[in-house]
Amino acid sequence: MKILFLNGPNLNLLGQREPQVYGKTTLADIESMVRKQAAVRGAALEFRQTNIEGELVGWIQSAKGAFDVIVLNAAAYTHTSVALRDAISGTGVPTIEIHLSNIHAREEFRHKSLIAGVCRGQIAGFGSYSYLLALEAAVNIIETSKP
Ligand code: DQA
Repeated sequence: MKILFLNGPNLNLLGQREPQVYGKTTLADIESMVRKQAAVRGAALEFRQTNIEGELVGWIQSAKGAFDVIVLNAAAYTHTSVALRDAISGTGVPTIEIHLSNIHAREEFRHKSLIAGVCRGQIAGFGSYSYLLALEAAVNIIETSKP
């Protein structure tokens, strides 16, 4: 089981950035929490962050054949990026959309996700726990797709 966690712009600032919205947990804390649970589940993972849209597109493209599932917090690109949507649908690797905050309870421009329609599902609003829920969902996708 190989799972690729991708994090978009400004998520490197977690812990300092709007803690009232995103909490005080850093991205490194989230990564170690996910790694612990992945070990319990017997899953291998890669955990990456970038502020650059094209880098996310490249990582999604090269996930084909290398990872079973992508877990993607596209951050602000969720609401703007046709390129990410096309990369997800073009690559065909099952992708889970995640957010720390409940994007549907926030400003109207965050209610629309351009990637939701090409993802298996969306997890939003559980803070850092969204990542653990996504790990469980990813394991379930892999286990239920075995012949
Ligand atoms: C976010 C929600 C996005 O609207 C925002 O731009 C982010 C983080 C979240 O995890 O809650 O940067 O993806």
